[in-house]
Amino acid sequence: MSLDRLDHSLDQEIARLKAEGRAKKPERIITGYVSGRDGHGPRYLLDGENKEFLRLNSNSYLSLSHHPALIEAAEVAGREFGTGPGAVRFIDGTYRHHRALEERIARFTKKPAARIFNSAYTSNCGLALTIGTDKTHWIGDALNHNSIIRAMRIANVPSFNKGIYAHNDMDDLERCLDRVGDGIERVAVIFDGIFSMRGDNAPVDRIQEIARKYSPRFRDGVITVVDDSHGIGAYGATGRGTSEFYMTEPDIVVGTFGKAFGVNGGFIAASKTVIEAVRQKADTYIYTNPLSVADCAAAVKAIDICDSPEGLDLLDNLQERTRQLRNGLAALGRESIAGPHPIVPLLIRETGATHRLVSRLFDAGVLAVGLTFPVVPRGEETIRFQVNAAHREADIDLVLGLLAG
Ligand SMILES: Cc1ncc(COP(=O)(O)O)c(C=O)c1O
Repeated sequence: MSLDRLDHSLDQEIARLKAEGRAKKPERIITGYVSGRDGHGPRYLLDGENKEFLRLNSNSYLSLSHHPALIEAAEVAGREFGTGPGAVRFIDGTYRHHRALEERIARFTKKPAARIFNSAYTSNCGLALTIGTDKTHWIGDALNHNSIIRAMRIANVPSFNKGIYAHNDMDDLERCLDRVGDGIERVAVIFDGIFSMRGDNAPVDRIQEIARKYSPRFRDGVITVVDDSHGIGAYGATGRGTSEFYMTEPDIVVGTFGKAFGVNGGFIAASKTVIEAVRQKADTYIYTNPLSVADCAAAVKAIDICDSPEGLDLLDNLQERTRQLRNGLAALGRESIAGPHPIVPLLIRETGATHRLVSRLFDAGVLAVGLTFPVVPRGEETIRFQVNAAHREADIDLVLGLLAG
């Protein structure tokens, strides 16, 4: 059968997205990577462009994706065990590399156990499927990542079992908890550790306190879940994320290997029983092939490096370059959102001006993301810079020079 009629309907939908300003622009294609040299960090080549680009839009905070040890670990694992697992985990698709990564990330997050997923996105969906019941009430920050919102839908959480508190507003979180109806057996408070559009962090210590206060009211208590995808590896004194920053431990940690660790994949870390329940109940874990052994071996290596003196040096440079950019913006009288995370927002507060500045940066060989309505509310239009450990002082100076001009 022809797809003509379906194509026609979808064309109309896409046209609507474009008219509403919600359509994604064509994707740029990276065609080359040029290692750092002469006091500069790495540069990228793009299809159709004849210059090199400095990336300030990569989540690879520790710049590990080109690290020789990760590439070698992936190569060795792939040579011996092949490219794909051949089946899902419970049908002999589990290799020693999967278990090694699960043990390593559990140790890193200081949790008794962990399970890995293809992404943090599917981890959140898997978690909702695991702990959600019709007597579970979910409460989340208004700025939570799309994967958490989608997870609620996948787990069929009805709206009367959901509460949303204003961003980082702890009084509002308490109001949400006060409103939880009788008959609810467990409450999950779920929040991004670092909010990807703003670079600010959740007040994890306050959330923990509030959860403890309300916990006795429910059979299974108030469980705290942090999705620390942007924090793990990049935040806290040793890269353990937002929990380390606040020296407190949410009950369940969700994260990714695809940002600071420079690989791919996600995880849930928690008690042994929660993790066994994930294995039994999380469809996004059970019915899909796991990561390749190459990804797992590279991710283990990334965590090992993060936990070594080399990792601390990388984190040090990341923090130093982040300070350089943040202080430089302040010196230029530019508006940002305070905090030490390498996501550095530059508030422009106007759509046209945001687009113009992003284009000017692009023309000068700098990649940064413009966030405009409806991704962010009107008046909060922002250019998001992301600092990576491979950036050098001259790279940040280059960006600040462009912003000064
Ligand atoms: C809070 C949060 N969760 C999940 C994700 C998705 O991570 P992954 O690419 O591993 O699915 C992101 C990435 O943008 C994120 O910011």
